[in-house]
Amino acid sequence: LNLGKEALIRARLGKRMRSLGISTLPEYCRLLRSAEGEEEIGNAIDSLTTNFTQFFREKDHFEFLVQQALPGLQARRGTPIRLWSAACATGEEPYTIAFYLEKHYPLKDGWDWRLLATDISQRALDKAIQGIYPEDRLAMMPQDLVRQVFQRGYGQSAGLYRVKKQLQDRIRFQQMNLLEACPPEGSFEVIFCRNVMIYFDRPTQERLAQQLARALVRGGILFTGRSESLNGLAHPLRCLSPSIYQKQS
Ligand SMILES: C[S@@+](CC[C@H](N)C(=O)[O-])C[C@H]1O[C@@H](n2cnc3c(N)ncnc32)[C@H](O)[C@@H]1O
Repeated sequence: LNLGKEALIRARLGKRMRSLGISTLPEYCRLLRSAEGEEEIGNAIDSLTTNFTQFFREKDHFEFLVQQALPGLQARRGTPIRLWSAACATGEEPYTIAFYLEKHYPLKDGWDWRLLATDISQRALDKAIQGIYPEDRLAMMPQDLVRQVFQRGYGQSAGLYRVKKQLQDRIRFQQMNLLEACPPEGSFEVIFCRNVMIYFDRPTQERLAQQLARALVRGGILFTGRSESLNGLAHPLRCLSPSIYQKQS
């Protein structure tokens, strides 16, 4: 975290601290470091992370994925296309990827794809795994697509929509701290790591950009958030447009 975030941290952790009867940050830190504080770490992470996301957020990326990235990578029927949504929050990003792939690279036509979706926040991941969203979250989506990919709730579940199971089953959700672990070299054709680097300081951003580049195959594509530029960081990626990068082939 950048210096200057102390007030934010205090505000975010304040609710947890009050509920535990703790009044100072050093005291809370002592709890987190102690054996009995192990369970509290998850709560601290959930409080500190910003999980804002949306279906179809920065829609151009998904269009680029199906129209340029995958054709450019010479994706072939029968050979799995491997993708990673590296800070998936409550699931809207990986599900949007899945909607696009289902439409343009359908299983029934012999296409195969594997999507890994990870996040540090277990609370966010639990929502992603549930795959249930209130109607207003789907406002960005065309109605025919909503009918195709969601099951509409009735009775007590009216107003809620659940991602269809056959689509959900194709995504593997997993908790992962991007700063501690990274999948092995050459694991993915495409990585989405959007709107998370912005929270890290420059040296951490640089280290992460290098790790993500390593996890891509040659020619693979990395999407970052629109406001996150890798400009000025040392990394081996070629910039195709301000938030789209390619590993040199
Ligand atoms: C603002 S959301 C972005 C969600 C999605 N990628 C998008 O663009 O809509 C940022 C996500 O990054 C996650 N995050 C923050 N630090 C992380 C870390 N060190 N490792 C993995 N995920 C992290 C947060 O839990 C949060 O869900």
